[in-house]
Amino acid sequence: MRLKEVPKVNIAFLPTPLQKVERLCNKLGLKELFIKRDDQTGLALGGNKVRKLEYLMADALNQEADVIFTLGGPQSNHCRQTAAAARVCGLESVLIFGGQEIKDIQGNMVLDKLLNTKWHFSGELDREEKLKEVSKEYEAQGLRTYPIPLGGSNALGAMGYVEGGIELARQCQEQGVDPDYIFCATGSGGTQAGLILGTHLGGLRAKVIGISVSGTADDITEKVNNLLVELGARLDVDIKGLHNVIVYDEFVGEGYGRPTELSTQALKVCAQTEGIIIDPVYTAKGFAGLMGMIEDGRIDKESSIVFLHTGGMPALFADTDLYWKPEVEISK
Ligand SMILES: Cc1ncc(COP(=O)(O)O)c(C=O)c1O
Repeated sequence: MRLKEVPKVNIAFLPTPLQKVERLCNKLGLKELFIKRDDQTGLALGGNKVRKLEYLMADALNQEADVIFTLGGPQSNHCRQTAAAARVCGLESVLIFGGQEIKDIQGNMVLDKLLNTKWHFSGELDREEKLKEVSKEYEAQGLRTYPIPLGGSNALGAMGYVEGGIELARQCQEQGVDPDYIFCATGSGGTQAGLILGTHLGGLRAKVIGISVSGTADDITEKVNNLLVELGARLDVDIKGLHNVIVYDEFVGEGYGRPTELSTQALKVCAQTEGIIIDPVYTAKGFAGLMGMIEDGRIDKESSIVFLHTGGMPALFADTDLYWKPEVEISK
């Protein structure tokens, strides 16, 4: 099947802008820097998951689902965007959060509340087990459930980023840009896998570099490779030669969501040069990866670079001492 034949619902504002960021570019001493603004996909404050949900929700509607189930951390952007996608498709949603119940509702959870989704904490159980357990309760009431995996990262969800990669390639062509590298934050791997295939199909030669926000480079590389194989089979495209997946995991720091000095600097430098607000958990780590690799010489300053802004800003309004440190000054 070709991508155009795969059913999707139009719930994102597309295309998102490809923005030239000269002040930020000068600050980093680069030749050329662009930000692909997927924080501006529109739905419920936007972000990368909306592209994936265009395909996943179409499938849920085709299967006549009543309730969408998904899982993540309490500050999951994916959960928030899924709850909103369910609403705009006229469906209900249930979110499964890992760990013990949190009473202090901040950031993404405020929006989840506003969207009037239901959430359950998995407590001692594994999140997937809890999802199955709660799904059964809904099914017992005669409702049809539709599970979406962590980060929306199955092959169907990743198709959103095949489309995103093709869109980016077209914009590069229109703006006369031939990037050497495309940087993105990577977690469950669907964004990176789709982007690798999409930019390749769109004719870009750029290497896609995923900066891990939590997992090891080996684990994420395996996930991305598996998704590429599945995408190739489903879309009937040759993915030979796309197996050189690049993921770096050295910018994670103490762990998922834990700020590093470089990630806090990344947040501030984007805000203070361009007024662009990135997020503390994903894009700040991704941008820190770009900054770190320029600093240590792995990225030549003569390079042309696109950074994919995948959204996630609601976490700026949750537990600032946990996710980022407003008091840290950036180096001049
Ligand atoms: C803001 C943001 N950026 C990047 C990612 C990573 O995307 P993926 O899970 O497709 O690797 C996520 C995933 O939750 C996210 O919320």
